[in-house]
Amino acid sequence: MKEIKFDFNSMFSFSVGRHGASEADLMSMLKPAALAHKHLSKCLDSQSDRVALGLEWANLPFQSKADIDKILQLSRLISRFESVLFLGIGGSYLGLKAAQDALSQPYYNEFPALRKGRPKIYFDGNNLDPQTLSVLLRNLKPKKTFVVVISKSGETTETKAAFEVVRQWLKRSIGRNYGRQIVAITDPEHGSLRRLVAEEQAKDKLSFRSLPLLKGVGGRFSEFNMGLLHLSLIGVDIKQVLNGAAAMYQRCSSPDIFKNPAYLNAALHYILYRKKGKSISILMPFSEGLKSTADWYCQLLGESIGKKYARKVVLLPEGTERWVADKNRKVNTGITPVACRGTTDLHSIQQNNIEGQNDKAITFIRVDKFISDIMLPHNCGIISGKSYSGLLKLAQEATEWALVRQQRPNCTITLPEVSAFYWGGLLFFFELSIAFEGELLNINAFDQPGVEGYKNYMYVKLGKPGIAPEIRKNINSSPLIKKRRFLI
Ligand code: PA5
Repeated sequence: MKEIKFDFNSMFSFSVGRHGASEADLMSMLKPAALAHKHLSKCLDSQSDRVALGLEWANLPFQSKADIDKILQLSRLISRFESVLFLGIGGSYLGLKAAQDALSQPYYNEFPALRKGRPKIYFDGNNLDPQTLSVLLRNLKPKKTFVVVISKSGETTETKAAFEVVRQWLKRSIGRNYGRQIVAITDPEHGSLRRLVAEEQAKDKLSFRSLPLLKGVGGRFSEFNMGLLHLSLIGVDIKQVLNGAAAMYQRCSSPDIFKNPAYLNAALHYILYRKKGKSISILMPFSEGLKSTADWYCQLLGESIGKKYARKVVLLPEGTERWVADKNRKVNTGITPVACRGTTDLHSIQQNNIEGQNDKAITFIRVDKFISDIMLPHNCGIISGKSYSGLLKLAQEATEWALVRQQRPNCTITLPEVSAFYWGGLLFFFELSIAFEGELLNINAFDQPGVEGYKNYMYVKLGKPGIAPEIRKNINSSPLIKKRRFLI
């Protein structure tokens, strides 16, 4: 079977001069990489560490057949509906959207022949823009729509707001059994969504059916947990996705960074960030279907690596670890993620990539074989008789060349095809690579304390009970400064 290929040549100084990593730079990473591998493997090998630290995602490729069968059963029940509306944001949305665009055919909702009897899929609750949900609810038929609400915490404002509106919409048309058209994917114990599920289930077992999110799996690492129902609904073989992830796990278990693509990717990005000032990471798939995978990657990188404090590892008496923010070591580590799309963005952002500030590392994703291809007719000049996919690959190669000529570091990941297996492997590669980069940077890649700031501000303004007094005081005593002369 073909493997995903990784080409790191254009990240090195022999290709891009002083803007690239030298082989000596990489050799100097061998010791820190060995230490990072030792620590990460120790944590991954211990179930209690995995759960406590948020590393349980690494076990998701090995889910049991029984667990998957439960999902398939639920999916069969839902698939008789005309439409399924998924509500969620962040990690409770981006993985699903990435899968939808990568693994179902383009225009899936528009053409029945592509859906083969499966429901149309809609996403909402990923913004507070009132327009999208209004249009959806004016046009979807409540009796023919199934709703899947996804929120790990069960508290996120965007998802909660959308769910409340959608719930009333269903109830108005269906009556008391409306909850039979709802599945909730949420924490097994905590949060208001979980409480609602428990209340509704106590009244009617067929109402508000639920799938639990596994403990120790953070939102942005959870596609292989919370995304499985969606995958099955669009006809993707879940097992293939998980097998692809498991194969990547196997491939990336070597301590030798020269044999381990996730480690080599992380080490090179670490060098480019720390030594060469490349604080922007662009992911540019040359495939329309993989653009949303780049959006998913933006959350993974942004929330995992953007951290104010260094990590302090605290060893508990029973041997498990806790990672806490070391308030004495402010580091403000962060690499800004950007999602791009080849060839579309060669006609926009690429000008800046080539001639703007040299502060970026670019990762291309290239696809060897597309499900369909188009041959150009024989009367169209230099592109006569060429295939679309051939032109696309040539455009990617040309982009790499043009970047190298301007000393812009970049690397290329090549998928044999965009299938369930390789897509699963691709996501898992990025997850492992980010986990390893977090180790090298000594930050906690599995929390997101910075996201709390805006949430707390909204909660205080909305009068949410239970907000800590110091948080309330801080928000109330430091309003935004709005000078009249700068309000034009
Ligand atoms: O990575 C994360 O944990 C977050 O970005 C969440 O995915 C996001 O905030 C949504 O949270 P929830 O699933 O609790 O609604």
